[in-house]
Amino acid sequence: MAPYLHEYSRSMPLMYRTKVANRHIIGSFHMVLGHVPQGARLFDIGCGTGALLYLAVKLRKVALAHGYDLSREAVAASEGVSVAVPELRITHSTEVFPPQDLTNYDVVTMVDVLHHVAAPMQDAFVSRLAKTLAPGTLLILSDMEGANLFTGITARVHDLVVNKQTVRPRRSTDVTAILTDNGMKILSIAWCWSVVFKSFVLAAQKI
Ligand SMILES: C[S@@+](CC[C@H](N)C(=O)[O-])C[C@H]1O[C@@H](n2cnc3c(N)ncnc32)[C@H](O)[C@@H]1O
Repeated sequence: MAPYLHEYSRSMPLMYRTKVANRHIIGSFHMVLGHVPQGARLFDIGCGTGALLYLAVKLRKVALAHGYDLSREAVAASEGVSVAVPELRITHSTEVFPPQDLTNYDVVTMVDVLHHVAAPMQDAFVSRLAKTLAPGTLLILSDMEGANLFTGITARVHDLVVNKQTVRPRRSTDVTAILTDNGMKILSIAWCWSVVFKSFVLAAQKI
């Protein structure tokens, strides 16, 4: 992943270049990408600069790599990349809930986004997303594991210091319950540690 992240971030502003070039060190990208079938049509919710989408083009040969983010700065950073990637489309949105038009995609990913969604809206966010997906669509949702006390603290401190934001990591069991209550079948759940964070990676399919 490192060489691809390096080439993708090369012409971004320094802060994003540093974040993107080192993105593989923190989190679960390797596991998330392992769930994406070759040639799939992929949509990434809260894609930031689009690092996962770019990796999916390179490593999983996805046919479409579309996504959106609420951060205008992150989307702007993605617009300045020096590599031509026809499959890639990243848009800015001001809508805090997931889009309704996800039927053209085989796989929807959401990585390290849920804990950034305002706490009172998290349940509704996940249930709306599950309801929106067409039957057969694969959802890969990964985030900091809220059931892990240590990660609960490190994630909160990290975002308070780096992003000046109060976040709420969720228990994977809570997320699983919301998904199953809203028509999704859980295919697998796994965990990984990176630096000081434990992440869960949930694969689910809309029935
Ligand atoms: C830690 S970053 C992760 C970015 C990217 N998914 C990645 O793994 O590199 C969290 C992202 O979630 C975005 N975000 C926060 N709330 C969101 C929401 N309600 N809908 C979509 N994106 C959101 C933020 O703007 C930020 O870019």
